[in-house]
Amino acid sequence: MCGIVGYVGSRAAVPVLIEGLSKLEYRGYDSAGIVVWEDNQLKLEKKLGRLSVLQEALQGTELNARCGIGHTRWATHGRPSDINAHPHTDCTGRFAVVHNGIIENYLELKEWLEAKGHRFKSETDTEVLPHLVEHYYRGDLKEALQKVVERLEGSYAIVVICRDEPGRLVAARQDSPLVVGLGEGENFLASDIPALLKHTRRTLIIDDGEIVDLTAENVAVSNGTGKPVKKEVFEVTWEESQAEKGGYAHFMLKEIYEQPRALRDTLSGRITPENHRVILKELNIDTHLVKKINRVFIVACGTAYHAGLVGKQVIESLVRVPVEADIASEFRYRGPLVGPDSLVVVVSQSGETADTLAALREAKRLGARVIAVTNVVGSSISREADDVIYTWAGPEIAVASTKAYTTQLICMYLLGLWLAQQRGTLPQNEIREILVELRELSAKAETILDNNSAIEEISRQYKDKENAFFIGRGLDYVVAEEGALKLKEISYIHAEAYPAGELKHGTLALIVKDVPVIALATQKALFEKMVSNIKEVNAREASIIALAMEGNTEIEKVADHTIYIPATHPMLAPVLTVIPLQLLAYHVSVARGCDVDKPRNLAKSVTVE
Ligand code: G6P
Repeated sequence: MCGIVGYVGSRAAVPVLIEGLSKLEYRGYDSAGIVVWEDNQLKLEKKLGRLSVLQEALQGTELNARCGIGHTRWATHGRPSDINAHPHTDCTGRFAVVHNGIIENYLELKEWLEAKGHRFKSETDTEVLPHLVEHYYRGDLKEALQKVVERLEGSYAIVVICRDEPGRLVAARQDSPLVVGLGEGENFLASDIPALLKHTRRTLIIDDGEIVDLTAENVAVSNGTGKPVKKEVFEVTWEESQAEKGGYAHFMLKEIYEQPRALRDTLSGRITPENHRVILKELNIDTHLVKKINRVFIVACGTAYHAGLVGKQVIESLVRVPVEADIASEFRYRGPLVGPDSLVVVVSQSGETADTLAALREAKRLGARVIAVTNVVGSSISREADDVIYTWAGPEIAVASTKAYTTQLICMYLLGLWLAQQRGTLPQNEIREILVELRELSAKAETILDNNSAIEEISRQYKDKENAFFIGRGLDYVVAEEGALKLKEISYIHAEAYPAGELKHGTLALIVKDVPVIALATQKALFEKMVSNIKEVNAREASIIALAMEGNTEIEKVADHTIYIPATHPMLAPVLTVIPLQLLAYHVSVARGCDVDKPRNLAKSVTVE
C-alpha cells in the first residue's frame, strides 16, 4: 500500500522525508510526492515514477524547510499520474494532505463539496480530504481534522499540513497503520516503522479513532471527541529488514496476515449498506449486452487461474451460464469458441503476465467484452481491458501469492452476484444471504490466523516428506489445487491435487503408509461422500490432515489432525479454507530451510511467454 512520512524539527525536512520514503520503497509504489512549509508557503512536488524522479525534480530546491510530509502512492482510485500523486491540496493551496487507505463515501462527499464551489483536480478519493479541511477550518487544524473524520467512511491514515500553522502536523487513523517517532526537539510520523528507524526507536502506535497533534517539542494524542489519550512508548527492537516485514519473519507470512484487511478493502464500497445489492460502478457494460452473454471464459495463470476455477463454479451456479476456466498459455492456441456474446474475464495480480495479456488481446480480437480483475492500477492488462475490477490487496511481494488469491475470489463472488442481479437469476433473499456472509469473512479469517501455532505444530511433523496429496470435492477440489501449488512452490515437496472421487481410478496406488493426504471437507452437500473417500486413504494408513467447517466433528474419527474453519456459506468457504493451507505450506517451507519469499526458479511476475 501507500507510504507516509512526516517530519517536524530543526533539520532540513526534504532529505529526511526522502530518506524515510526510500525505506518504504520495498512496498511498491507508482508515484511519490512531498510538501514542505517554507517562507510562509506550502511547496509541493509530486511525480509519477520512482523516488529518483521526484529527487531529480527537487534538485536545487532550497533546503530551509523544517517541516513537511511525504507519500509514495500505490494507486487505487485514479491511474498513476503526477496529478493523482499525493499530497493533494484544497482550492486555496492552504492545506495539503497525504492519505493511505480508501475513502468509501468519497463520491458523495465530492458532490457535496462541488455543490459548495470546491474545484477538484485529480481522480482520487483522497482529494476530498483537503477540501473538507478547507471547509471546516476555523483557525485550528486539529479541530478541523476532527470534524473531517466524522464525515468519513472507509479506512485511512491521514496527515495534514497548513500554511498558516508552521511547525505543526495533524494526523488521524482508522484501519490503516500510523506511528509517531519520538525524537529530541524533533518528531516524526510514518505509516510504517522502517521509515523511522534511522532516527529513533521510540514510537507511539496510533490506534483507530485517534488524532495526533505533532510539533517539534510536543506530541498530543486524542480520541475522536478531543479527549487526551495517554500512550505507552513502544521501543522498537526489530532489525531494519525485520521491520520492513512488519515484524514478521517473511513477506509471505505478513501477506497471509494482511488478508482480513485486504478482504475488507476489496469489498469496501461494493455492497449497499443494507446488503441488498452489489455495486460495481467500474463496469460500464450496457444491460443489453449483460443479458446477451451466452458464455463466460475466465483466463489466467498460476494462482490467478486457481481463483478462476472457483469463479467458474460460482458464476455457473449464480448466473446459470456456462463458464470455462482457461490457463492463459493454452487459451489462444486452442481456438476457443469466443465471440461477441462472450464475456472474457482475465485475472492477474500483476496485470503484466505475458500469457494473460496475449489471451486478453486474442479475446478482444474475437469480439468479446473483456473484464480484468487485477491488483495493479495502470498495469498493461488494466489498460487494455474494457472494464477493470480491482482487488485492493495492496502490493504483494512474496512470490507465492496469498492475499491476491483471496481478494481475487472476492471479485469472483462480486462479479457473479452482479451478473445474477442484472439478469435476475437469483432471488433477492439469496443475494442478501451471501452478501451478509461475505462481509463476515474478514473477521472469520482473523479467527483462522489465531490458530496459527496449532497449524505450525502440525506442519513440523510433515517437513521431511517428499510427496503430498490434496483431495476434495466441488469447490474443495479447486482449493486443493491452490493448496498443492503453495506447498510445491515454496517447500519443493511434490504435491498434487485430485478430486477425491477420482482417487480410485489411479492415484490410490500411490497412497501408502504415512503418505500425507490433506483432505478438504467443507462442502456440506458433499461431506458424507468426502468422509467415505477419507476412509479409503485411511485404510491405506496414509497420514491425514482434514479441513472441515466447525461442528463437523465426525471427521476426527478418520483424520490424524483436523483443522476447523468457521462456518460460512459453502460457496464462500474457499476464502477461509485456503488460509490454513497457506500457513501449512509456509511452515513446512521454513522448517525445511527454503527461501520462502523467493523460491528457486520462480518469479513474481512472468512477462515472457
Ligand atoms: C507467477 C507467480 C504466481 C502468479 C502467476 C500469475 O507464476 O509466481 O504467484 O500466480 O505468475 O501472475 P499474475 O500476476 O498474472 O497473477
